[in-house]
Amino acid sequence: MDTVLADSPPVRPVSSRNATIPTGTKTAAAAAQGVAAGQAAVTAATEAIVSFEAVSKRFPAGRGSAEVVALDAIDLAVPRGSVTGIIGRSGAGKSTLIRLVNGLEKPSSGRVVVDGRDVAALGEDKLREVRRSIGMVFQHFNLLSSRTAYQNVALPLEIAGADRRTIEARVTPLLELVGLSDKRDRYPSELSGGQKQRVGIARALATQPKLLLSDEATSALDPETTRSILALLKKINSELGLSVLLITHEMEVVKTVADHVAVIDRGAIVERGTTFDLLSAPRHETTRALLAGLPSLSLPAFLAEQLRPEPSAGSRAVLRISFAGDSATQPILSRLGQATGVEVNILAGAIDEIGGRPFGSLVVSIAGDAATLAKAQNHLAAHGLQAEVLGHVA
Ligand SMILES: Nc1ncnc2c1ncn2[C@@H]1O[C@H](COP(=O)(O)OP(=O)(O)OP(=O)(O)O)[C@@H](O)[C@H]1O
Ligand SMILES: [Mg+2]
Repeated sequence: MDTVLADSPPVRPVSSRNATIPTGTKTAAAAAQGVAAGQAAVTAATEAIVSFEAVSKRFPAGRGSAEVVALDAIDLAVPRGSVTGIIGRSGAGKSTLIRLVNGLEKPSSGRVVVDGRDVAALGEDKLREVRRSIGMVFQHFNLLSSRTAYQNVALPLEIAGADRRTIEARVTPLLELVGLSDKRDRYPSELSGGQKQRVGIARALATQPKLLLSDEATSALDPETTRSILALLKKINSELGLSVLLITHEMEVVKTVADHVAVIDRGAIVERGTTFDLLSAPRHETTRALLAGLPSLSLPAFLAEQLRPEPSAGSRAVLRISFAGDSATQPILSRLGQATGVEVNILAGAIDEIGGRPFGSLVVSIAGDAATLAKAQNHLAAHGLQAEVLGHVA
């Protein structure tokens, strides 16, 4: 059985997002893909575009290294029309997972079903067909240096045997979609990193795929360029109804662009859910650790340096209180102080938003013994707030 990422209908129907577009007209993005906006809406259903069914991947022992279990019994469904993020640390198995989707690797056991087809069971011809329905964007862009932006985007079409007119009709609107019409005759060496990635994205869209795979597409880019590339991916998702599966080690990336998130740790999915639920109420230790890297939630250096894992005489416990939605606006701390009689000091804090909903965290220190700490935690839990003890400061 698949485990779908979310319980509720997982995908906002594309039709509602395109509600303002009159029937028969084309958005720039839909035009680039050669589909009417309404058509893109119709094809977006809520079932999975990719499902991993009990997928394991073992790399055999060799050249002095032991066998590696890169993926261990993965059950995961990527809802069609969604932007789904898979986040995990280096070596967690993210690239292996994504390489199973386009058939570059075969599972050791289990099935990877893409758009209804078991990828590993396909012959060469059918596999080529599936690969044409999947676009791939890479961290290092993988552009051909001897080809211009236009010629790089045209490449998959040339390989597929398209004629010049078809190629021109496809590539020109794609360059417009990614905002590079004026760079069509530039070579990669004449483009910035962000521009190169835009070429990479246009090239990935050239064969009009249903699914876009992104392996750390923004990892080599600065924060501002990252935001603009993520905005482009989101636009492609919402205007074309294209499903996007992206893997990243950065929580900021999934926070900005993903509807659903799964956390992978040592080859296993340890937590999953809608981005809001997962980020506002993380349960697994790995998710929490990855969240701590969010710029808005990271601890100030002076505090991180002082933190000790165990309490000492007279030390104060340091708690991170996470809150979401309505509770973000409640006077959390004054109530905590009143209800428990403990003195609460604010050390750091930030309020962020995901999809227009506030979520945030406050880092506080409280005086007192273990019983006082437990009392404070119980009070917070009773009000639906997560409180994690980060450590103790003298
Ligand atoms: N072809 C291979 N042969 C042997 N081991 C491999 C092979 N490919 C990957 N592995 C191992 O599988 C594990 C998962 O690797 P993978 O590349 O999927 O990680 P990742 O999550 O993408 O990491 P990163 O964030 O660093 O890219 C690692 O321990 C890696 O060494
Ligand atoms: Mg990788």
